[in-house]
Amino acid sequence: MSEADIIDGKAFAAGLRGRIGEAVRGLEANHGLTPGLAVVLVGENPASEVYVRNKAKQTRETGMASFEHKLAIETSQDELLALIRQMNEDPAVHGILVQLPLPDQIDAQAVLDAVDPAKDVDGFHVINAGRLMTGAGDPLVPCTPLGCTMLLKDRLGELKGLNAVIVGRSNIVGKPMAMLLLAEHCTVTVAHSRTRDLPGLCRTADILVAAVGRAEMVRGDWVKPGATVIDVGINRIDAGEGKTRLVGDVAFEEAARVAGAITPVPGGVGPMTIACLLANTVTAACRQAGIAPPEV
Ligand code: GUN
Repeated sequence: MSEADIIDGKAFAAGLRGRIGEAVRGLEANHGLTPGLAVVLVGENPASEVYVRNKAKQTRETGMASFEHKLAIETSQDELLALIRQMNEDPAVHGILVQLPLPDQIDAQAVLDAVDPAKDVDGFHVINAGRLMTGAGDPLVPCTPLGCTMLLKDRLGELKGLNAVIVGRSNIVGKPMAMLLLAEHCTVTVAHSRTRDLPGLCRTADILVAAVGRAEMVRGDWVKPGATVIDVGINRIDAGEGKTRLVGDVAFEEAARVAGAITPVPGGVGPMTIACLLANTVTAACRQAGIAPPEV
């Protein structure tokens, strides 16, 4: 069996950011509209700080306005809700993202549901989740599954009729991924920690999406020959000699010997998430201004 094609999410995301930048320049020139994204970070989680820094940098690089709010770890839920109300009212802010996880004293769902659904660029508000599930209205769609779907359509074209198995049932990835692939007319199975014969189920998948957060859990012999494998995991593991390295939820070398195409970690799904956040911000800004969102 020959080696799988590598799906270059880094390059795809760079192209997407380029198109977003062009769209932003057009909105500025033709409508005087500068999309604005506000990101809120509570506490000092190092991984979250890196994400938030990258989000802010890429927001500015595409010509949009970036607003950053770094709050102390002991911030109360009421204080955070007050900030969200203020951003909901602010016409310069078109997208609001509250970085997860939040500290224990804060009810994350209450916070996510306080964000104006029109500004919910994470797509985590129950209104957007419900719209995605029912197909009613235009939801803002969670960024990671949106990015995975773009990579799949770019690779496979038509997804209709394909068997998709998603390993992981989170609200951030697994569940919205299932809705997006159903909308593409895939036959979708969502697997999780209690699924029986997970390897056998995965071997039925034309599209296999791994989003469980367990390093290299999906082995090569779980993959159907020729399948398209999308690895959402980002796990830091011990690489010996005091070093660490990033791996996905899929045992890459093994799976690449069987799959038709596979996303690497890093450089696969990861860069798509922020690019889709920027795309969602443009979409949100246009809808708030009553302008048809550009195709990117
Ligand atoms: N933490 C990990 N992934 C995400 C994400 O996609 N959005 C937010 N807000 N927080 C996260």
